[in-house]
Amino acid sequence: MSKRVVLAYSGGLDTSVVIKWLQVEKGYEVVALSADVGQQEDMEAVRKRAVNTGAVAAEVVDARLEFARDFVAPAIKADALYENRYPLVSSLSRPLISKHLVEVAHRYGATAVAHGCTGKGNDQVRFELALQALDPELEVLAPVREWGFTREDAIEYGHAHGVEIVAKKENPYSIDQNLWGRAIECGEMEDPWAPPPSDIYSYTLPRSGMAESVVLGFEEGVPNSLDGRELDLDTLVGEVNLIAGSYGIGRIDMVENRRVGIKSREVYEAPAAAVLLEAHRQLEDITLERELAHAKTEIGLRWATLVYDGMWYSPLKQAYDAFIDAANRVVTGEVRVRFRPGGFTVDGRRSPHSLYDYELATYAANDAFRHLDAEGFIRIFGLGLKTWSSRQGGLAR
Ligand code: ARG
Repeated sequence: MSKRVVLAYSGGLDTSVVIKWLQVEKGYEVVALSADVGQQEDMEAVRKRAVNTGAVAAEVVDARLEFARDFVAPAIKADALYENRYPLVSSLSRPLISKHLVEVAHRYGATAVAHGCTGKGNDQVRFELALQALDPELEVLAPVREWGFTREDAIEYGHAHGVEIVAKKENPYSIDQNLWGRAIECGEMEDPWAPPPSDIYSYTLPRSGMAESVVLGFEEGVPNSLDGRELDLDTLVGEVNLIAGSYGIGRIDMVENRRVGIKSREVYEAPAAAVLLEAHRQLEDITLERELAHAKTEIGLRWATLVYDGMWYSPLKQAYDAFIDAANRVVTGEVRVRFRPGGFTVDGRRSPHSLYDYELATYAANDAFRHLDAEGFIRIFGLGLKTWSSRQGGLAR
């Protein structure tokens, strides 16, 4: 029996050429694995393409609900935005795909797994760290990093070996998309001053006739209803993508710091992420005590960096998750979101665990706040400052 490798197969040019290359140059039988993480592609067509390209077997897993439940939900609970902007779209799918690669490798008795990432990106780091954590015995192959092909070389190699996708129209962009958003790189965007071409978008295309506002329900930090309808998270994210996307919400244009030391111009479309992360944060505003809220903001930023860096299956991530889960136990309630072209506003929030106290907050006459206590509070709070200032003779005297 010849040796087997399981390849993370996207159906694109590179991974299609990889199938042939692993057979021809490395003597492997290739099993293709494609995960449906909500990228809205015809997965049966992807599966057939793998077989037509020479895979001995091709598996498609419908991982939409798993992706939403086990990867997107923790990101919402963490308020996860890498460098305060990027909602981790690709960073979240790699550990999931890695898990399925390992599962299929075990099932097919494969000794190796392969991915189609280049040597300059984050995704190779994410795959390989996840794979090391899940099964350090598996060999990992990265043909695109190894073969040293230009794009033209890859096309030529594909042509020479009868890879069908090569015939398709050329697309200058590198795109990765899933339920949580879409990343678009390369082409004209490699100049950070150049505005993105207007034809690159697909999740954020203006369309009329969509809802003007929605009420999102959350249970322990996870969105679970839309206008009172209980929905599985993958469905809910999909519906919010459609509504918010129709207002052009969720476009992000940034230069980010890759883990491998490169600054990279990135354009993202993540309408549901923009809305759900903000709604979640607003629900935290009424349910989390101040010190916890502030600490959670810091942990959330670290969580995002850790996950961006590919450390999904790490002990630090597990420990952060325990903290984040504990904080989210009270993040149950509803948030109302109002849309307008290009933006949205949260204009209502409520929770059975709300710490908002009308009697304390109101400026009405008969409030519960003891006004005169404030005088002593400020005197003691400012004591150190006042002592210091008087030793200077008073800063403005
Ligand atoms: N820069 C983003 C990240 O590191 C997006 C990567 C997109 N991947 C791709 N193959 N185009 O998460």
